[in-house]
Amino acid sequence: MVDPNDDLMFSNDPPSGPLHVVNVDPWKLLIVDDEEQVHAVTRLVLSDFEFEGRGLEFISAYSGMEGAKRLMEHPDTAVILLDVVMEFDHAGLHLARQIREEFNNHSVRIVLRTGQPGQAPEKRAFLDYDINDYRTKTELTSDRLFTAMVGALRNYKDIQRIKALYEQVKAAQIGTVVAMADLAEYKDEDTGEHVMRIRARSEALARALAEQGAYAELINDTFLELIGTASILHDVGKVAIPDSILRKPGKLDEEEWKVMKTHAAKGENLLFKVAQMVPGPNVLTMGSQIAGGHHEKWDGSGYPRGLQGEDIPLEARIVAVADVYDALISKRCYKKAWTADEAMAEMRRCAGSHLDPVVVEALERVLAKERAEILG
Ligand SMILES: [Fe+2]
Repeated sequence: MVDPNDDLMFSNDPPSGPLHVVNVDPWKLLIVDDEEQVHAVTRLVLSDFEFEGRGLEFISAYSGMEGAKRLMEHPDTAVILLDVVMEFDHAGLHLARQIREEFNNHSVRIVLRTGQPGQAPEKRAFLDYDINDYRTKTELTSDRLFTAMVGALRNYKDIQRIKALYEQVKAAQIGTVVAMADLAEYKDEDTGEHVMRIRARSEALARALAEQGAYAELINDTFLELIGTASILHDVGKVAIPDSILRKPGKLDEEEWKVMKTHAAKGENLLFKVAQMVPGPNVLTMGSQIAGGHHEKWDGSGYPRGLQGEDIPLEARIVAVADVYDALISKRCYKKAWTADEAMAEMRRCAGSHLDPVVVEALERVLAKERAEILG
């Protein structure tokens, strides 16, 4: 098999973008049917099939359960020709549902192919299961099978293209976020590692809360996906703080401290403005909530608004726990680095006053897990 990247690597011309790479890998076709003959006929009929210069790679499974296994081995399968009645009456329909709901695979095109239409009436099957085409086996003469395959592959290709575009936009967004955070950090003494630790811990805390079922009405998949990247932005408002204050070696006086504290609201406003240009919940809206809320305290004694308890956005409460813990275990010019046990004792002391006690509890579990992983 020719590696599509070889072309790029050995070319003397500058790469001219994704168009330069020609994919010649065959499309993967999974045939799921309990009759051996169906496999043989399908392979025969489609032996010279080609779509956009790419042939087919046939993968066979003889039951619904085996079909699931093969699909796990080949998640990049483009089309499934799926029988209905196999090890049990609706084995094919069961697999179709499993593919979408359990494997979360919404790309693969499913062509239901049945010998006994009575077992899966067309309308019902189409409405109740996320299948893409429905054919009876008798109908699948070579011409019909050919057009069904072309239609399915065309759709599959479109979906892949949209997915690639989405990934590209997402990567660009993350790149922008990291650049913004770098700008703020450039002025601050915080290291890049600090920011990355906050990112990992915030993500781990959100996941631990989700596992425990805490704040279930707030933590959904989007929340889990965004919080790590959004957490990077918590101190972005520091770009607006003068270096004389940000880098002052000694303690800040009252006036300087007042200026320093404005970084929370400044970060929130900056991100809020940008976030309005993007529809829907995204990393910038969440970043804005985090920047504005990460110095609020559970008992209402924080800044900038003096919000209390669950009025403080959850994402900000999570990042506050990650941020405070990291500050404790880090060496600063005015203090040594605390041990993990000392830091955790302090976190427990602050639970319910400064910090959300439920999130502090989650931190205990996250740290225990981290420790267990280190010990192997
Ligand atoms: Fe801050």
